[in-house]
Amino acid sequence: MSYQVDEKGYYGDFGGAYIPEMLYPNVEELRRQYLDIMKEESFQKEFKELLRDYVGRPTPLYYAERFSKKYGTKVYLKREDLCHTGAHKINNTVGQILMAKRLGKNRIIAETGAGQHGVATATVCALMGIECIVYMGEIDIDRQAPNVARMKMLGATVIPAKSGSRTLKDATNEAIRDWINNPVDTHYIIGSVVGPHPYPDMVARFQAVISEEIKVQLKEKENRENPDYVVACVGGGSNAAGAYFHYLDTPEVGIIAVEAAGKGIDSGESAATSALGKEGIIHGSKTLLMQSEDGQITEPYSISAGLDYPGVGPMHANLFRSGRGEFISITDDAAMKAGLQLAKLEGIIPAIESSHALAIFEDRKFKEDDIVVVNLSGRGDKDLSTYIDYFQL
Ligand SMILES: Cc1ncc(COP(=O)(O)O)c(C=O)c1O
Repeated sequence: MSYQVDEKGYYGDFGGAYIPEMLYPNVEELRRQYLDIMKEESFQKEFKELLRDYVGRPTPLYYAERFSKKYGTKVYLKREDLCHTGAHKINNTVGQILMAKRLGKNRIIAETGAGQHGVATATVCALMGIECIVYMGEIDIDRQAPNVARMKMLGATVIPAKSGSRTLKDATNEAIRDWINNPVDTHYIIGSVVGPHPYPDMVARFQAVISEEIKVQLKEKENRENPDYVVACVGGGSNAAGAYFHYLDTPEVGIIAVEAAGKGIDSGESAATSALGKEGIIHGSKTLLMQSEDGQITEPYSISAGLDYPGVGPMHANLFRSGRGEFISITDDAAMKAGLQLAKLEGIIPAIESSHALAIFEDRKFKEDDIVVVNLSGRGDKDLSTYIDYFQL
């Protein structure tokens, strides 16, 4: 049994492409072509060169000595925070802009929560000279202001999503609406392993460079390719999918997924999908979803804009249901403390999303000789005002 996608676009019970008829030609065009395009030698060459020379890959695998000492285990940080634009999101946008060019598209749309995916999309559009429109919830526009300014400076148009919780889910709805209205010339760069097949698989493959590098780097440092555990935060799940990708079918490697518990799982203000979700369909894919008794999507909440989403990608829903992944929920308070602690212990200010992954060490104990790789998905520059307000700095 494999935890990778099957030929029909499913991970176990989850995935598929539940889309309105109007979107069918676009999604089908992508489904038919994505694997062939990704296999092309010229595609691989261009993708790898841009990852190296533009994104700054490989990102370091850093042994966090003081952090490790504190928690009595060996912790390595995969430094996606050092990618150009400050997070893992750019791995995927580089891949998808090359895909869009080969599909002959000249207009790009995207949704964004924390703004990192919006910035990464605006960046590659500037690089290629292609028009870029980013949908972003009104609440997120407020709490991630520096990223809004960056997108504008990069030449993108940022359109506020004003419905629902005015966060990531609503921005995604607006982007899908745009795509339905502009089916011919537009490519939708989805920012996570969500959406209809083939998006979850395509995005996972673009992010898989993370675990590809971990294998090589761990071999150099520890003379083994496999850590005992890989830990990552999960919003939609793209940094996690990339960090797990080459370990999914290696059962000796434990997979730990960290979700946002917001103010507490039972508080009514949370985004802990594995704990609270039931099977449902969101944004074109069957997955676990926070919803009411009658199937209405529950508005999610997290202090972290990037984790503030009521679902998870179908790969993660399957990792949860099958028991392959261990799922842990972390509150706002625990994540904020963990972020401040990393700054003090290691001189690294993490994105609040990544702080959730770092917070698990308080309660989840590891053996002294365990090797635990934490995917540090992004840097905290965009979150400074949230850190400042929270800690009264
Ligand atoms: C730094 C960072 N980490 C994690 C995430 C969550 O996204 P995903 O679960 O797709 O990695 C985001 C989303 O914006 C982000 O900016």
